[in-house]
Amino acid sequence: MKKILVAAIALAIGASFTACANTNSPANNGGDTPAASSGSKTVGIAMPTKALERWNRDGEYLKKLFEGAGYKVELKYSDNNNDQQNNDIQSMIADKVDILLVAAIDGEALTQTLGDAKSANIPVIAYDRLIMGTDAVSYYVSFDNYTVGKLQGEFVRDQLDLDNQKGPFNIEFTAGDPADNNATFFFNGAYDALKKYIDDGKLVIPSGKKTFEQVATPSWSTDTALENMQNTLASYYAKGEQLDVALCSNDSTALGVAQAITSDYNGKNTPIVTGQDGDIANLRNIVNGIQTMTVYKNVNNLAISTLELAKAILNGETPDAGLTDRFPSKAVFDTNSYNNNVKDVPSYLLDPTIITKDNLQELVDTGLYQWDADHKYLESTASTT
Ligand code: GAL
Repeated sequence: MKKILVAAIALAIGASFTACANTNSPANNGGDTPAASSGSKTVGIAMPTKALERWNRDGEYLKKLFEGAGYKVELKYSDNNNDQQNNDIQSMIADKVDILLVAAIDGEALTQTLGDAKSANIPVIAYDRLIMGTDAVSYYVSFDNYTVGKLQGEFVRDQLDLDNQKGPFNIEFTAGDPADNNATFFFNGAYDALKKYIDDGKLVIPSGKKTFEQVATPSWSTDTALENMQNTLASYYAKGEQLDVALCSNDSTALGVAQAITSDYNGKNTPIVTGQDGDIANLRNIVNGIQTMTVYKNVNNLAISTLELAKAILNGETPDAGLTDRFPSKAVFDTNSYNNNVKDVPSYLLDPTIITKDNLQELVDTGLYQWDADHKYLESTASTT
């Protein structure tokens, strides 16, 4: 099953890559032809795991994009295992890749290895997740992580009309992996957007779990999120108390939480469930009213922006705010929000968007999704080819 999904995603990416490269890819309209600027350079791409859908999309799409621009690509997935990611990156260093793109499993666990990359003069781009504790990271490319959480919180505010309704409404939080530097940004963005209403009692957290540590989900695991929500429901909602909101930081956790609600929740309402990523199973839940929204981070735009950054670095430029002119979508160049405990890492932050059942077409427009035959659910673009 997993193999079929991965193959489908890979094919989808192949198909959409062609479409994308022909339309809005700056790779095809900036000065040098891609092949001329890339020569025979090799890009090493380290992704965390194939177990979560989004990394399959990112990895395969990056690979196609860089190969299409004339680069050789080494792409490795490290099974959510730190030792393996260190080994995988070490082997890419040994292979003398020219640049590394790394989505870290544990932001704190790559210091030694990336020190070796630096000694070998291999620049490192932190992809989506910031890498901590090293000066070897040259740049960070991601979405505005705090804004992802803020969009979730503001969505809840608007859905419940918190500025006008008296409440109180019950809310429970599910956050991400404590080893992932993004996870606190997501949680804080959401919590800060709702804090005022929590403080004045309009939003109540019956479990009392209101710190990131209390609601974190190691490895962003669906099973752990399911179990945690089942425990919360059993302990605080067993007598039919109403849960109004399950604020989940991403789709893999939202999947587990929604499953717990479907099977173990006794209330009469349908709770609002938030997510992030646009994973296929979650989009299906959105259509079925089991999840309410997801924050989507456009992989095409992230990958193309990363290609532009890598090209600039490999061409000996010093990328700054001006580089965003070559990106396919709006991005901010931020030099002081992402400190990795050694330095402020210059960051390119793209804009995430909210997806609900009303604007699924926006995902189809990315080229990575398509409607099924009944125009009801989304599937990977290649699943019918
Ligand atoms: C985060 C990433 C999210 C989500 C999560 C689980 O770092 O930004 O998009 O995928 O990891 O993999």
